[in-house]
Amino acid sequence: MATRNILVVNSKGGCGKTTVATNLAAAYANAGQRVALFDCDAQASARHWAQCRDGQRSNIDLYCYPEPNQISAPIVGDYDVCIFDSAPGLTTKPVLRKDFESLLRLADAIVVPMLASAWDIQAGEQFIAQLMTQRVWRAAPAPIAVVSNRVNGNLTSQQKLQHFLSCLDIPAVTQFRESPVYAEASDSGLGVIEMKLNRAARKEFKAWHTLTDWLDHAAIAGQRAGQQTRRPALPLAAPKAPAANPATTNSDSQERA
Ligand SMILES: Nc1ncnc2c1ncn2[C@@H]1O[C@H](COP(=O)(O)OP(=O)(O)OP(=O)(O)O)[C@@H](O)[C@H]1O
Ligand SMILES: [Mg+2]
Repeated sequence: MATRNILVVNSKGGCGKTTVATNLAAAYANAGQRVALFDCDAQASARHWAQCRDGQRSNIDLYCYPEPNQISAPIVGDYDVCIFDSAPGLTTKPVLRKDFESLLRLADAIVVPMLASAWDIQAGEQFIAQLMTQRVWRAAPAPIAVVSNRVNGNLTSQQKLQHFLSCLDIPAVTQFRESPVYAEASDSGLGVIEMKLNRAARKEFKAWHTLTDWLDHAAIAGQRAGQQTRRPALPLAAPKAPAANPATTNSDSQERA
């Protein structure tokens, strides 16, 4: 099966991109898939997560690409699943516009985490409109899903988010609870799916399976869209050697997590 490229993106900061990307990486690695996690954010949170990860855990290869236009086809082709964690501000900072285009060109499926607050909904609405009017996306429309993150008992904001999502032509695939288990997981380089003895983590399992099931189907549809519309080929550069110094954030850095 061809590599499935999953982009986790939203211009809004702090909505859970890295949380979703790292948890997805762990979920796929635990399912026996060959997984690469691409940290495409200079903040390097996904790298930090991978550095905390116990080497005995299911392997996830980490690549740091603060400049996503440097990602080459052979690297992507080595894996069953590639997950791209993106930086905030991709559509609001002109300097990041090219990065956004490069990531959209790669993506077979797109996950947009969103929080249920008035500001997040307003920013999310703007972001999705910008995404769907991008020339690169329109040329080969990869399926998009929204996931509601940090869902708590606040019914009013949750209803506002649901109303907004129901007006869109894209699915709200699942929701993740507001739970301290996510901080615990990020501090220890784990996905909640790996925290089998933790009751709060177990409550989240179904939501993660729902997302991976959706992605498995969506990514195949996205690959077909890319092939049919001849999504521009990636540059065929040779894969770069793993960096000697794991602390570097240059685009040629790779680590095994
Ligand atoms: N479901 C959740 N429950 C509780 N805390 C969460 C949840 N999801 C994310 N968080 C916490 O919210 C904070 C922001 O999450 P995260 O770093 O994943 O967002 P981000 O979109 O990647 O941020 P940035 O835009 O800065 O890259 C982190 O401290 C994370 O642990
Ligand atoms: Mg992040």
